[in-house]
Amino acid sequence: MKQDLFLNSLTRKGVSRRNFVKYLLAGSSLSISALSKLNASIYQSIKDLNQDFIRDEAPDGVYWDAIRDKFLFQDGLIMMNNGTVGPMPKPVFNTLIKTFKVQATSPVHMYTYIPRKKEEIRSRIARFINATPDEVAVVRNTTEGMNFVANGLDLKPGDEVLLSSMEHPGGTHPWKIKEERFGIKVTQVPIGLPPKSADEFVGSFEKAITPQTKVISVSHTVYISGLISPLKELCRMAHEKGLLVAADSAHGIGMLDLDMKELGIDFFATSPYKWLGAPTGVGVFYVRKQVQDQLWPTITTSGWNQPTARKYETLGQRADALVIALGEAVNFQNYIGKSRIEKRIKSLAGYFKQELKKITGARLHTSEDLYLSGGLTAFSIEGVEPRAIVDYVRQKYNIVIRTVGSREKGTYGCRVSTHYYIHHREIDMLLEGIKKIAGQRT
Ligand SMILES: Cc1ncc(COP(=O)(O)O)c(C=O)c1O
Repeated sequence: MKQDLFLNSLTRKGVSRRNFVKYLLAGSSLSISALSKLNASIYQSIKDLNQDFIRDEAPDGVYWDAIRDKFLFQDGLIMMNNGTVGPMPKPVFNTLIKTFKVQATSPVHMYTYIPRKKEEIRSRIARFINATPDEVAVVRNTTEGMNFVANGLDLKPGDEVLLSSMEHPGGTHPWKIKEERFGIKVTQVPIGLPPKSADEFVGSFEKAITPQTKVISVSHTVYISGLISPLKELCRMAHEKGLLVAADSAHGIGMLDLDMKELGIDFFATSPYKWLGAPTGVGVFYVRKQVQDQLWPTITTSGWNQPTARKYETLGQRADALVIALGEAVNFQNYIGKSRIEKRIKSLAGYFKQELKKITGARLHTSEDLYLSGGLTAFSIEGVEPRAIVDYVRQKYNIVIRTVGSREKGTYGCRVSTHYYIHHREIDMLLEGIKKIAGQRT
């Protein structure tokens, strides 16, 4: 009865951001079925919202404010760094607690009911990225997926792998260690800041290919510049030459309306805790069916020789609550709609770019082309220390952004993530802060 009263008050009023700890404690005292009811009521309210905005493709304002209420942000925090770690919406958090509760109260369900549930989630993820369930492995993060690619392919000494010049360490070092241990050759191909077109990007790789090249391994979502690499065009070119293509798409899932078949990619690793709202500790690793016989599993126990991507998931006992919460994160985004989310993210980024360009000395490191960019925007302002901007906007407005890149390589700047829950007025505050610091230039 007491729980029902609590549940009603939460669902009626929404949870005050000040009461996060209360929510957490109350959540852990709720029964498993009460937590499920709570999620159902949150989803019902999103369905109602969708009805209210049925004719709006990418509604602004009220719709997104209401969606933001489904999160548990600390009071006043304006999180514009999903590129590092993003927040979990309430249903994901509730499901996490609920599943840990299953282990605490009835561990037997962890090896009876939960494995079946995980298979359902694999299918849900597959639908979400337009793959088949046999092509999806739930791993721990992008770094793990990229290591699986580098470790699992049979390459001979002298075989070459092309990377871009702007890879994340998680996409570079798996190949670097293979170079040291097995004598493969790793070549970094310079890409623009930003490239002017998909052709320019693909052309740089095409020119760099030698008879020894076997693999192209690139960031899909370039963490330094916010570039969305044109994978479809890259794969088309590479496949014509018999090469394999791997993508580090750490930021892709939850930011972009992903479609593996459309991209034609062979290996694709992504981290759903950035933009999808999943907890840290789970990642998605896609391996195209036709190339699975070329990729050995790296971590093994029984099951490593099965003919599906499940063979890349033989990692021993896992924190399955994370996997179940990942399934909930997919649900949450499905209620809003992948394409609506991508549009919203890109329109916020577009607004930020448009206004930023008006500041004297501003330089966008991210393309303005909607095909070559997403929710990450990197920039610098001539004569301004990026760190000064990051620190000022945090202290003045509680806006979280970050510095990125390297001074020596000319890529140093600030990076802003504009997820769907960010409001235009918050972008205006950020711009005001940037102008203030830029105005102090001597
Ligand atoms: C482009 C890119 N690749 C790889 C990673 C590593 O991600 P994870 O730590 O989830 O493996 C990141 C992390 O920010 C990234 O931005």
